[in-house]
Amino acid sequence: MTPDLNLSHTPAHRRQGSSIGQPMTRRDGILKVTGAATYAADNHPPDMLYAVLAVAAIARGRVASLDVAAALAHRGVVEVMTPANRPALALDPDAKFHPFMFRLDLLQNDGVRYPNQPIAVVIAETLEAATEGAALLAPRYETETARVGFEDAETFVPGGVGVGNPASQQKGDVKAGLAAAATRVEARYETPPQYHNAMEPHAIVASWDGDSLTVDTPSQGLAIAQGRIAGLFGLSPDKVHVRSPFLGGGFGSKGLVSGPQVLGILAARLVGRPVKLVLRREQMYGPVGHRAPTRQTLRLGIDSEGRLTALDHHALTASSTFDDFFEPAADASHTLYASPAIATAHEAVRLDTGTPLFMRAPGEATGSIALESAVDEAAWACGRDPLDFRLANYAEVEPMTGKPFSSKALRECYAEAAARFGWSGRPLAPRAMRDTAGLLTGWGMGTATFPALMFQAEARAVLKSDGRGLMETSAADMGQGAWTALAQIAADGLGLDIGQLEFRAGSSDLPDAGIAGGSGHTATAGMAIHNAGAAVIARLADIATADAASPLYGAGNEGVVARSGRLYRRGDESRSESYTEILGRAGLSEIEARGTSAADQDTREAYAMHAHGAVFAEVKVDPDLGQVRVTRLVGAFAAGRVINPRLVRSQYLGGMIWGASFALHEEALADHRTGRIQNANLAEYHVPVNADVPSVEALLVHEDDPYVNALGIKGVGEIGITGTAGAVANAVWHATGVRPRRFPVRIEDLLAGGGLG
Ligand code: MOS
Repeated sequence: MTPDLNLSHTPAHRRQGSSIGQPMTRRDGILKVTGAATYAADNHPPDMLYAVLAVAAIARGRVASLDVAAALAHRGVVEVMTPANRPALALDPDAKFHPFMFRLDLLQNDGVRYPNQPIAVVIAETLEAATEGAALLAPRYETETARVGFEDAETFVPGGVGVGNPASQQKGDVKAGLAAAATRVEARYETPPQYHNAMEPHAIVASWDGDSLTVDTPSQGLAIAQGRIAGLFGLSPDKVHVRSPFLGGGFGSKGLVSGPQVLGILAARLVGRPVKLVLRREQMYGPVGHRAPTRQTLRLGIDSEGRLTALDHHALTASSTFDDFFEPAADASHTLYASPAIATAHEAVRLDTGTPLFMRAPGEATGSIALESAVDEAAWACGRDPLDFRLANYAEVEPMTGKPFSSKALRECYAEAAARFGWSGRPLAPRAMRDTAGLLTGWGMGTATFPALMFQAEARAVLKSDGRGLMETSAADMGQGAWTALAQIAADGLGLDIGQLEFRAGSSDLPDAGIAGGSGHTATAGMAIHNAGAAVIARLADIATADAASPLYGAGNEGVVARSGRLYRRGDESRSESYTEILGRAGLSEIEARGTSAADQDTREAYAMHAHGAVFAEVKVDPDLGQVRVTRLVGAFAAGRVINPRLVRSQYLGGMIWGASFALHEEALADHRTGRIQNANLAEYHVPVNADVPSVEALLVHEDDPYVNALGIKGVGEIGITGTAGAVANAVWHATGVRPRRFPVRIEDLLAGGGLG
């Protein structure tokens, strides 16, 4: 069921004029805090069974035996799905027709290619019976040596990285630039495998009705999920209904349908009853994506004025043995700093892990912690303040392409965040500040950037003769507030007070809202909504201005403006008519129109489009224990037009917290003998808690962008992580004099030189 958001409790004083720019609270907030919001696993259709995955305990080899009989004999167990009885699929799960059609493990054979790969599904009357049945399978394996680290496999150059970028790019002569430099910095940085760890695990409730399928499953892109499932089962997409009103976070891991979700559908097919399958936390460490590890080498040349003469960024990364996703880490160096010569290159190895995936600013997060660290090293090597150094290398045009920026208020971000933080009081040298308790105190900064992406989306707008409006698009809300921001754009586009709007989303039978990913959802779905609104208002204006009985007669489509449920004559607003009057006289109960996100491609090609920001961090380090605490984060971000400052700030805060997490906390540790992940749980895979981020501030910097799209929107979801991770790392150096080059920062590295005392 698609919940209709009750938008009528918006405070009256907010209803004047456009809803865009208003700091409305999340419209789904009350549903969530009262428990009324239905997540996928909350669904419980009649006659439903529970499915539990059995997953591989090895990283590489094959399943030699499973005690299916023991599981089947267990009370309550209905069926065990293995490669022997798994229903047929219309598509080979290992077939790949598109770079983002990921290969899935759907019990196609007995092979094991990564730890926690599904090897069987136990289906039972209760969750307990299914769980116990899975334990009774007692798999025996033929094990091969796992390839776990960069040293274990051969390096190669991938055919492309990220969303199809070339693996290497260059401009100018890096070699000559380095040779001519007055100062050179070269350093290698390592980032670990990380896992998305959304609060809500991947889950599915699948119900077949003949050849029609209904699934409740969290999805960042409902039409993509619908199409992928339809393809695998040989169904036309209209036979597959995906419902995903709420996600408990996705971070990229719910952008594409994962193998376990499809296994839930297969299980329902096998037993002929609805089935619920929910991943256990440790089962999320393998089949649903992760952030690949990187080993990055940066070489910077700087002239005597403190300007870059060359920037060379090489990234080694890892993918699975059977599929291609390559973290585009070095591409972060395309955007941030002016340099006459830039070279970026990627190499990769294939390891016995699940296939990596986009995760929280893919490329930018991994690449910028290395780049921002190297820039900080360069500033110190030149004896320059890190902010002055960045300003001296400010990119007036996009460094790699030479394209003008559609807008770039980064200078303002630097200035506002630095002032708020108090950066001007920073001593240049490290180890120069201690607090009253004797803790080493350090200040660091980083630049944030993320591209202003847009994808394909469609929306449908309806105006009704009772004066109300309806906007439909399949948009997913991951908790980021998309439904609220998109409803604001919808109300604005329809010329309605938000209380007069019904906003429907979260279901694949609505127009395709594209993917809630790449920080592009508000711009993408928002532009479709904006255009659908404009189209239906144009229809209304056609009706009114052609009607001799209307005060708007003869004004023409351009001669009217829509506001608060009325059309006004442009230039003479004493002449107006309500939507109700116009539709009533025309004898219409409602009119509708559709819109898409299609943007002018020439404009999008002509300009470099990115959001920017600056983040300043304070850390305190215990000189005896090496323990690092972030005590203060201040970020300022410019990302075009702000649809809802409350939600945008919340996105920035979340991103910054993930940035601190990248620098100090997150890391999946694989056992080098077996390849198994040793900390596949939230007790040992560390993410920040409130005590880890006592003070985080995000400032919203004004930026008008006339080119990015008609609404002037850039993305805000991922940028916060990009500057913050480097800022925290640089603050650790400033506190201790020890440069973190392995992330997360390790106490043993800080104490390696004999202690910090
Ligand atoms: Mo995001 S990693 O684009 O969901």
